[in-house]
Amino acid sequence: MRIGVVCSRVRVEEKLILAALRERGVDVVRIDPRELPLWVGGPGLEGMDAVLLRCVSHTEAFYISRWLAGVGIPTVNRHSVVATCGDKFLTSMALAEAGLPQPRTALALSREAALSVLEGMGYPAVLKPVVGSWGRLMALLSDRNAAEAVIEHKLTLGSYQHSALYLQEYVEKPGRDIRALVAGHRLLYAVYRESDHWITNTARGGKTRPCPATPELVELAVGAARAVGGGLLAVDLLEAPDGRLLVNEVNHTPEFHGAMEAVDVDVPGAIADYVIELAKEGR
Ligand SMILES: Nc1ncnc2c1ncn2[C@@H]1O[C@H](COP(=O)(O)OP(=O)(O)O)[C@@H](O)[C@H]1O
Ligand SMILES: [Mg+2]
Repeated sequence: MRIGVVCSRVRVEEKLILAALRERGVDVVRIDPRELPLWVGGPGLEGMDAVLLRCVSHTEAFYISRWLAGVGIPTVNRHSVVATCGDKFLTSMALAEAGLPQPRTALALSREAALSVLEGMGYPAVLKPVVGSWGRLMALLSDRNAAEAVIEHKLTLGSYQHSALYLQEYVEKPGRDIRALVAGHRLLYAVYRESDHWITNTARGGKTRPCPATPELVELAVGAARAVGGGLLAVDLLEAPDGRLLVNEVNHTPEFHGAMEAVDVDVPGAIADYVIELAKEGR
């Protein structure tokens, strides 16, 4: 069996996944997305049974997954899943259509619409770019003055992507959020990400601790993964003050270096098994 792993940089995580695939007897080919022309109509990647996308860039994952679908090679994750998870508004819509709990959210396409949404939502509120990760370019809007300033900056200085204003109620979470990794219908692990900052991403200094996989958490994490089309996915959950769990977002290229220190799960092995299973099924 031959499996491709697309990544521009071989970080610790990719190194471990490549090793786990080799241990399982797979012929592993590392593919650098910067050296891969996506010829429309082919040639494709000959003799590849499946491809695991480990692109840091969403643009790379988005186009390469679409191209590989066109040349008949299954990818982890599928293009439609990458497209949905790569855009926070598309993810929110998919979660809502699956009837899953999430923070109150709205997209505004102008300054006026945003300020009107915020009047209804109340302050503080969160403004995020629809495309982005690692907690970058997110704003906690404390009041209308802050909202007006940030929105003006985004609409004046931002790229076209920043003209979509993704607004969300601020959830008073207990100094942490929850990150759950799902492969297919299975939860691999859940960890808390603790931080003194309201943005708890590990890329921003959040510290991981094991989180008990309660039936509610498992059902919600697996349900959120299914809602966006299923695959190998990292689900962010927020604990609301009333004790309910809310789905915050779903990530299509999970990072797990922080979690690996906290949980006793062979994550690279589980990822390798999942990709091999998919390659065997040819889907
Ligand atoms: N509505 C919210 N209320 C409270 N905290 C939030 C909210 N949205 C995001 N956060 C915090 O910010 C972090 C990053 O937000 P997220 O939506 O996951 O964006 P990213 O794609 O950059 O990870 C979350 O992990 C969480 O700690
Ligand atoms: Mg996140």
